[in-house]
Amino acid sequence: MNDETQQNKEKQAAAIAAIAFVKNGDVVGLGTGSTATYAINALGKKVAEGLKIKAAASSIRTEELAKSLGIEIVSLENLSTIDISIDGADEFTESLNLIKGGGGALFREKIIATLSKNSIIVVDRSKKVKKLGAFTIPIEVIPLAFQYVFDQILKLSGKATKRKKGNKNFITDNGNYIIDADFGLLEKPEELAIALNQINGVLAHGLFIGLTSKIIMSTGNDIIVFE
Ligand code: 5RP
Repeated sequence: MNDETQQNKEKQAAAIAAIAFVKNGDVVGLGTGSTATYAINALGKKVAEGLKIKAAASSIRTEELAKSLGIEIVSLENLSTIDISIDGADEFTESLNLIKGGGGALFREKIIATLSKNSIIVVDRSKKVKKLGAFTIPIEVIPLAFQYVFDQILKLSGKATKRKKGNKNFITDNGNYIIDADFGLLEKPEELAIALNQINGVLAHGLFIGLTSKIIMSTGNDIIVFE
């Protein structure tokens, strides 16, 4: 089995393990990305078999996929709480802190994680790190504040790159830009998260601190749960 096939097998196994926590009547937060897609497909099968859920989507592509599978979508706008959410991550540590936003859906993903009573992250083992920060931190920025935010990141000693899609700017589902910021390996991710929150024009950043209930990681043969 090549590395990519093995990694996909791990993503799928973690996603399927997470689905077991979804109960009839739950409002479910749906993440974005390849691992979350395995979970959404598995949930779609359960819904076809009779599971009754409503779901809030973290991106337009997730909403479209869920609808195509017969999963009822509710708007995030009117939700005060979500029973359970299932999403992927770009990096995680055993202290349940994450970097997310590789797919650019970090703002809605963060709202969903914040509203969730049970926020489950599903990952293959390549996502586990001792310190966050090898993966650059996605930062969603309101376009008119782009240069200001870019300069503030440099002042915090980060290296900032505006995300592109081909030769155009990457635009999020919310109509904003993403800056991918490299701060090196993070000794104190909590402090950086607070500093980034304080920059006007930052809608959200990809450091998810204290927002996760459980991380389900597959190694291919085993499921390991961090909580
Ligand atoms: C999207 C995300 C994804 O969860 C993250 O990028 C992981 O993606 P994948 O499951 O494809 O490895 O945060 O914004």
